[in-house]
Amino acid sequence: MTRATILGLGSYVPERVLTNADFERMVDTSHEWIMTRTGIAERHIARPDEDTSDMCAAAAREAFADAGVTPEEIDLVIAGTVTPDFLVPSLACIIQKKLGLINAATMDVVAACAGFIHGLSVAQAYIACGTFKKILVFGAEKLSSITDYTDRGTCILFGDAAGAAIVGPATDDSGILAIHIKSDGRHDELLNIPAGGTHLPVVGNGSVDPRLSKLHMKGNEVFKFAVRHMGDAALRVIADAGLTPDQVDLLVPHQANIRIIKATAARLRLPMDKVYLNIEKYGNTSAASIPLALDQAVHEGRIKKGDIVLGVAFGGGLTWGAVLLRW
Ligand SMILES: CC(C)(COP(=O)(O)OP(=O)(O)OC[C@H]1O[C@@H](n2cnc3c(N)ncnc32)[C@H](O)[C@@H]1OP(=O)(O)O)[C@@H](O)C(=O)NCCC(=O)NCCS
Repeated sequence: MTRATILGLGSYVPERVLTNADFERMVDTSHEWIMTRTGIAERHIARPDEDTSDMCAAAAREAFADAGVTPEEIDLVIAGTVTPDFLVPSLACIIQKKLGLINAATMDVVAACAGFIHGLSVAQAYIACGTFKKILVFGAEKLSSITDYTDRGTCILFGDAAGAAIVGPATDDSGILAIHIKSDGRHDELLNIPAGGTHLPVVGNGSVDPRLSKLHMKGNEVFKFAVRHMGDAALRVIADAGLTPDQVDLLVPHQANIRIIKATAARLRLPMDKVYLNIEKYGNTSAASIPLALDQAVHEGRIKKGDIVLGVAFGGGLTWGAVLLRW
């Protein structure tokens, strides 16, 4: 089977910044509480007229330049998101239109914060069997559009961003060494948006509380599952690749909470200098978190050719996944 590799990366974060001081004016919270409990100081928020697809287009332009690939070469677009511009058509279709990806098939993947790793696993499978040669995988979210800014337990966590990766067949020893995805739908109520689907449609006559169209989360319960499953998934891909945790050069975790990240690193016995962190500046950007962090880590020289890189994510569903790459 052909090994899939990341040929290029790009990312985008909106300009506007919401600081913890801003939240002190909006809800009953403090900079100290947010920093100690989450590690987040700032998050970026998209303009009202800036759609998820706009952020994706900006990220993709960087990825095209990085990979030396043209839009016409893309034969599949996979968009990992829970905040598409529309339910129909898919986010991937809108991106296709905005970037002129005339030769591509398109699909969205809904796996919350694990959306990018789920998308990457689909891309890897298509590359392995030879169906597609150049796949554009996004993790992108405009979480500000589904955040309840009156709920202090969730609003301080989330930010907006997009990340893009161009995936293709490896021509050297780089690429995906192992990838694993998993879900447990029995815990659907821990992190959800109650209204807006067929179960509780929003009809616009005021019959549904608008807050039900926003993210609801039982944070401390999600926390426990995240710590367990991120560690398990990470150990699994390392074992599947025939490696040991000490061989990992950089852990690039989903940036949900500094305490979850530290617990995951401790489980793998990885020192924190082998962990990439940008949570302080961007908060939890859900599916965008890992591709944004990967792109920044490469630009900062934290990932070099030949490095073993471990990505691991956890999100609503519940969903989780891990990927081990040789860069
Ligand atoms: C949300 C999260 C930061 C809350 O931290 P926590 O330590 O679990 O805190 P709890 O929810 O147990 O709440 C503890 C107290 O802090 C309060 N609190 C919650 N948010 C607060 C805020 N922004 N400022 C001040 N106090 C806050 C709670 O009301 C509670 O008060 P009480 O003890 O008087 O009832 C944490 O649970 C978390 O990060 N969970 C996982 C989130 C996540 O990763 N989600 C996405 C999956 S990728």
